[in-house]
Amino acid sequence: MNDNPTEQLLRSWEANAEAWSDAIANAAIPSRVQVTDAAVMEAILDLRARRVLDLGCGEGWLVRALSATGVEVVGVDASASLLARAREGGGGAFHLCSYAQMAANLERAGTGYDVIVCNFSLLQEELSPLLMSLRQCLRAGGALVIQTTHPWSSRGEAPYKNGWRMETFAPFGDGFREPMPWYFRTLQAWIELLIASGYRIVTVREPTHRASWEPASILFIVTTGTDPASP
Ligand SMILES: C[S@@+](CC[C@H](N)C(=O)[O-])C[C@H]1O[C@@H](n2cnc3c(N)ncnc32)[C@H](O)[C@@H]1O
Repeated sequence: MNDNPTEQLLRSWEANAEAWSDAIANAAIPSRVQVTDAAVMEAILDLRARRVLDLGCGEGWLVRALSATGVEVVGVDASASLLARAREGGGGAFHLCSYAQMAANLERAGTGYDVIVCNFSLLQEELSPLLMSLRQCLRAGGALVIQTTHPWSSRGEAPYKNGWRMETFAPFGDGFREPMPWYFRTLQAWIELLIASGYRIVTVREPTHRASWEPASILFIVTTGTDPASP
């Protein structure tokens, strides 16, 4: 890969913003409709969160869904087109910036969050500096909720080892203009990353398709403190 994969990753979201937004609006991703949307909502509502930061909010479906339950939500994303869609849909406050820009200026995102959620939005190789700085945005005892592709079911044909992969979005419909590089992590690598970034793992869930018993995702709930992550 000649280009910096993280920059290519961000560019692909801008290039694919319309196709992605249509895929979400048309419920074209069965794993989301059947399993993972409900799983992330349940995780956040179980924590009885009142203020949530949705990091990598995309076109904003989770901001809208949470705000409909009375939660105050702030969404952050680097794609201007996706964030414009999110703003149109409403439900929260929004900031257009990359994670690196946000980490360099944390007041922008705010502090004292009960929950920071990353729903399929941690896609780059270097994550520890971001995860470490996010601790300052959480209230004491607050939780970071990460839902991501399950290392076992998303490993594909490649060896089970960390490394960059390429998503073509082929199953999600027409109109995707650029493939997206994303960094595959083994389960061990996710756990080591979270611990090295100063978090305590509260629980790990494996939301599963009931028809096939394939895991649709993996969901980590972690906290900074020693107390259970509850309000
Ligand atoms: C798979 S989409 C998920 C969007 C949303 N969380 C959802 O559940 O539909 C990944 C999102 O993460 C955003 N993203 C990825 N890396 C980012 C970064 N370094 N800075 C800001 N946004 C980023 C992309 O722009 C994209 O909107």
